[in-house]
Amino acid sequence: MTAEAAPLLDLAEVTVRFGGLKAVDAVSFAVAAGEVCALIGPNGAGKTTLFNAVTGNAAIAAGRIRFRGEDIQNLAPHEIAARGIRRTFQNGGLFGELTALENVLCGLHATIASGVAGVVLGAKRARAVERAATERARRLLDLMEIRHLEDRPARELSGGQQRMVEIVRALATDPPLLLLDEPAVGLAPPVRAQLGALIRRLAKETGLGILLIEHAIELVMNVSDRVVVLNYGAKIADAPPAAVRADRAVLEAYLGHG
Ligand SMILES: Nc1ncnc2c1ncn2[C@@H]1O[C@H](COP(=O)(O)OP(=O)(O)OP(=O)(O)O)[C@@H](O)[C@H]1O
Ligand SMILES: [Mg+2]
Repeated sequence: MTAEAAPLLDLAEVTVRFGGLKAVDAVSFAVAAGEVCALIGPNGAGKTTLFNAVTGNAAIAAGRIRFRGEDIQNLAPHEIAARGIRRTFQNGGLFGELTALENVLCGLHATIASGVAGVVLGAKRARAVERAATERARRLLDLMEIRHLEDRPARELSGGQQRMVEIVRALATDPPLLLLDEPAVGLAPPVRAQLGALIRRLAKETGLGILLIEHAIELVMNVSDRVVVLNYGAKIADAPPAAVRADRAVLEAYLGHG
């Protein structure tokens, strides 16, 4: 199989242990370009840990993770990010003193303004790339309807606005794969719906692959092409939203956790 034909992200029998606990237990599934794949499950099911395994923030005890046909499970987080996997964090991660726009751009500075890219491209070209990135950042801020907040320090923004800035930051480098960890937390229902529409549009119009952890079940049902369900670390379902909603094992998993 060539890298072209391979799924964007491909997990095979991935296991993550914390001492005696298998937080992720032999999980396999794939995400294609242009696909929105939701990852759901009760609290503690292993969703965030699975993200951490993909981004190199958690060591895997067994299994294999491929991105665009290449093994990435032994790479460092910055190497995985450089290949084009970007994420948002469940508990935020903005720099409070920096403005919204600066927060978005700081992800870019690491990749273009300094270091190898600067040397390879030359300072002038690097500046042009950065200008283009700033324009892209502004367009994305516009899309999320927070452009008017670009000069406000992040700590002054509401929780929902901070979420939006985080998503824009993750998108600013135009990554092929985006991992969103509960992006709708703290968003009012209309904003949530807007975010859902945007997620769907990004995937369908740009070919971005999206893996979405989300407890807001309506959002999951509305935006996902496929839903993977974890329970106690193990995958118990992997199907289109309507089928997952009617799945007995899934209903029982949620009821069991009360
Ligand atoms: N660094 C860690 N050390 C030890 N145990 C951990 C660690 N991180 C997570 N765990 C445990 O692994 C399991 C999975 O946690 P994880 O955060 O992946 O769940 P989750 O599905 O994201 O839950 P939530 O919906 O509440 O965010 C939990 O039992 C958790 O207590
Ligand atoms: Mg989590």
